[in-house]
Amino acid sequence: MLYKCVTDNKIENATARRNFRRVFFDQIMGMNVYYHNETIVYLNGEFIKASEAKVDLYCQTLHYGYGVFEGIRSYKTSNGSTRIFKAKEHFERMKNSARLLGMPYPWHTEQLIQVTYELLKRNQLQDAYIRPLVYAPANMVLGLNEESFLVIEVWPMKPYLGEKLLRIGISSYCRPHPKSIHPEAKACGHYVNSILASAEMKSKGYDEALMLDVNGYIAEAPGANVFLEKEGKLFTPPPGHILPGITRATIMELCMELNIPVEEKPIHPEELRRADAVFYCGTAAEVIGWESVEGHRFSLPWHKTISSEIQKAYKEKVTLSGRYQPQAMEL
Ligand SMILES: Cc1ncc(COP(=O)(O)O)c(C=O)c1O
Repeated sequence: MLYKCVTDNKIENATARRNFRRVFFDQIMGMNVYYHNETIVYLNGEFIKASEAKVDLYCQTLHYGYGVFEGIRSYKTSNGSTRIFKAKEHFERMKNSARLLGMPYPWHTEQLIQVTYELLKRNQLQDAYIRPLVYAPANMVLGLNEESFLVIEVWPMKPYLGEKLLRIGISSYCRPHPKSIHPEAKACGHYVNSILASAEMKSKGYDEALMLDVNGYIAEAPGANVFLEKEGKLFTPPPGHILPGITRATIMELCMELNIPVEEKPIHPEELRRADAVFYCGTAAEVIGWESVEGHRFSLPWHKTISSEIQKAYKEKVTLSGRYQPQAMEL
């Protein structure tokens, strides 16, 4: 027995060393690192080590993409506190995504927000990405389930699409027809479409894809919404074929606050040529401008656009800095 314990320990230590080497290796290669040996996740009511978490290999989500998730950001604010940006909106959207897919959802938003703050604390993270995922039990049948499971993961995060202006190409993959899926649900399986589009355009040398809807109008990025600037006004595609993002709604709030006119309307890709600027926005991408689309550059330099003002205001809003500092807001 003693011998067995020693052997297990040896195995554990060897595994731990291998995991640490792997993390180190991933950092050297510039790849994303999601967890290390001490990372804690929240799994079905418990805080446990990520390295010890188990998932059923017969899980319907793994096989068919039948699950829903969220992408949320927390920020270290100007006064040093940790703030999850629009936490309520994100967890409410996850509840709605589960409803649209017919997945049982027994959790309460307030409880999940508290759990997430605790998870950030346990992982000593402030500037982080938060990934809750509602997944299905073991089920190989194409049918509904009587229960769902929940995991919440957190990891350090830099803006998803980087901080340099983007070179965009228009993908040959379009967004799924709204009669095939619920575009407003953040469902796991939808992201196969996103991966195909992004990979296609990256293989052609672009930084990211723009996806059209089934009618040939501009829809969105594989993981972000799009705004176009023309003569002092912003335009964005209406809901219907897109995931109408929480960041997109925040940009509209900012436009109200900054007196910038904004309109939802179907946008033909030809209009990109006449735009002064274009940007993507999303929780992970934040606000990031485009350098070009299909090699065509825009008429205004980015720093002279109202889009760049929006970018600055967004950063201030999420970190409660600049014009959004708590004292400044009280004045
Ligand atoms: C397809 C898609 N569109 C838009 C967005 C932007 O949504 P949000 O601002 O809520 O992050 C995302 C973000 O994940 C997305 O995946």
